[in-house]
Amino acid sequence: MNFRETLLITGGAGFIGSHTVRRFLRNPQTRVVNVDALTYAGNLENLVDVAHAPNYVFERVDITDAAAVARLFDQYRPDGVVHLAAESHVDRSIADPMAFVRTNVIGTVTLLNAAVAAWKADGFAGKRFYHISTDEVFGALCAEGFFTETTSYSPNSPYSASKAASDHFVRAYHETYGLPVVLSNCSNNYGSHHFPEKLIPLMIHNIVEKKPLPIYGDGQYTRDWLFVEDHATAIETVYRSGAPGETYCIGGWNEWTNLDLVHLLCAVMDEKLGRAAGESAQLITFVKDRPGHDKRYAIDASKIERELGWKPSVTFEEGLARTVDWYLNNPEWLANVTSGAYQQYYEKQYLP
Ligand code: NAD
Ligand code: DAU
Repeated sequence: MNFRETLLITGGAGFIGSHTVRRFLRNPQTRVVNVDALTYAGNLENLVDVAHAPNYVFERVDITDAAAVARLFDQYRPDGVVHLAAESHVDRSIADPMAFVRTNVIGTVTLLNAAVAAWKADGFAGKRFYHISTDEVFGALCAEGFFTETTSYSPNSPYSASKAASDHFVRAYHETYGLPVVLSNCSNNYGSHHFPEKLIPLMIHNIVEKKPLPIYGDGQYTRDWLFVEDHATAIETVYRSGAPGETYCIGGWNEWTNLDLVHLLCAVMDEKLGRAAGESAQLITFVKDRPGHDKRYAIDASKIERELGWKPSVTFEEGLARTVDWYLNNPEWLANVTSGAYQQYYEKQYLP
């Protein structure tokens, strides 16, 4: 079959990656090669609905494996890379920083090297390397102000330091080799298929199970929440229309303290589960704070709206209701993740 373009999407079996893969697959002329090592965070069940699409290919490849990455460029001759693969959880980065250096820094540079080697003969004509990054590279805000594309980098966790390093390498490859790159730095995502180590899916899981809801410190830390499907449309927009060498901040204009957010989630779920109002909130438990915990993140997303015409489309009320409904309607997804059964999906689906 002839396709108009081929994209390597890294980390496509993860949370945001699976929504991004699905987004690009909507165009039958786009062939998507999902490149994922299937770490604990990679789950092919996230993509069961598209696994047999004619324009979808899965490649189990570790992005730090230079030979395997070079083989992908040789075999698929991609027009672009949409790079999401990463170690993504701050708490894990505190326990094991080197895993974050390995994938987020070395893996990104391995991809950059392969792109330059494969594409430079044609002078990079029609090519694009898009790095999906995080607002955490900017550090922490106090009560006022927003992160913008010109905010200086000040990462505080090993995770954000590794993402900052990878951003710098991507930008440096643009300046040094002329690689046509684009970057975006996004705020906290929420939605379906989110691994239950992160705040919102962990709380949903624990509310269902009537387990304690651990709030770090006093719970007065603020995050700016964006529905993951809105992030996927933003990624498609930046990939298609972002200017080479540019960065775009992506956010939801939607700030919540952790404590207020968990109270809201408890109220939404009490109603959906037919529990008495206030019942789930009794599970809230204050626990030891995260070291180096950033006080507040908030994105000024006006550049992407002004220049590329993207803005969030899903209200928090709607997005949270859709998220809770998805988890309540898909208990087997959560059960497979918590039991570890999801890790056998690759063998079942792809091995003889
Ligand atoms: P995730 O942890 O859910 O998924 C990461 C994916 O990368 C997994 O499928 C995993 O198997 C894969 N992966 C990890 N190491 C790999 C390696 N060495 N080689 C190949 N694949 C590997 O992450 P997510 O939350 O979907 O985040 C995706 C990207 O978006 C990350 O780069 C993250 O920094 C960024 N981001 C996330 C958020 C958020 O709120 N989750 C916000 C802004 C930016
Ligand atoms: O801002 C973008 C970032 O958002 C992404 O780059 C990261 O990949 C993503 O994991 C997320 O990072 P956070 O550290 O903000 O997300 P997390 O869900 O781990 O925590 C959200 C907030 O909730 C944070 O202030 C810590 C707090 N928290 C988290 C957990 C897991 C709790 O209070 N209790 C918890 O059990």
